[in-house]
Amino acid sequence: MDQDFKEILFAEEEIQKRVRELGQQISRDYGSEGDLVLICILRGAVVFLADLARSIDRQVTFDFMDVSSYGAGTESSGVVRIIKDLEENIEGQHVLIVEDIIDTGQTLKYVVDVLQTRKPASVKIVTLLDKPERRVTKQVKIDYNGFEIPDEFVVGYGLDYAQKYRNLPFIAVLKPEAYS
Ligand code: IMP
Ligand code: MG
Repeated sequence: MDQDFKEILFAEEEIQKRVRELGQQISRDYGSEGDLVLICILRGAVVFLADLARSIDRQVTFDFMDVSSYGAGTESSGVVRIIKDLEENIEGQHVLIVEDIIDTGQTLKYVVDVLQTRKPASVKIVTLLDKPERRVTKQVKIDYNGFEIPDEFVVGYGLDYAQKYRNLPFIAVLKPEAYS
């Protein structure tokens, strides 16, 4: 499997440290007022959610949404659809969307627009990774960002290529040869 990677971008320790910092920042910003629901975007953000949630020092609930904008390849189709919706009503709740990576921004723009119609108290975004060079929409404001990365396809720590590599504890750049 190691031969599939061009380089390791973030080692396990580096990710763990940054996720703890994000959790502390979120704990400070939200304080203990109101209900906070962490909305995990399936499936890539599952690993990040699990670590982030344990670094947040206040009461939170979890909910999950599965949206699709990608086929099996590495390019966004631009067409977003809900595969699985939330279980709970978010009206009046503080919503923090937990995402693995923001690339073109189309997925998150769609999710934010859908959630806003349900009258939450607030909607914010935390993403582990951001690829700003790839953005096609200016309408996505990232409130918390783990790392900015260049325009390369990465896997690990929840991120996949064709459903593989999600269980790696580090984040690596996939060699183009491994795409086939
Ligand atoms: P966007 O709509 O283009 O911002 O796409 C965001 C989604 O594409 C993320 O939630 C990921 O599932 C997927 N994605 C984008 N870039 C990568 C990458 O480098 N590796 C793995 N998945 C990616
Ligand atoms: Mg995703």
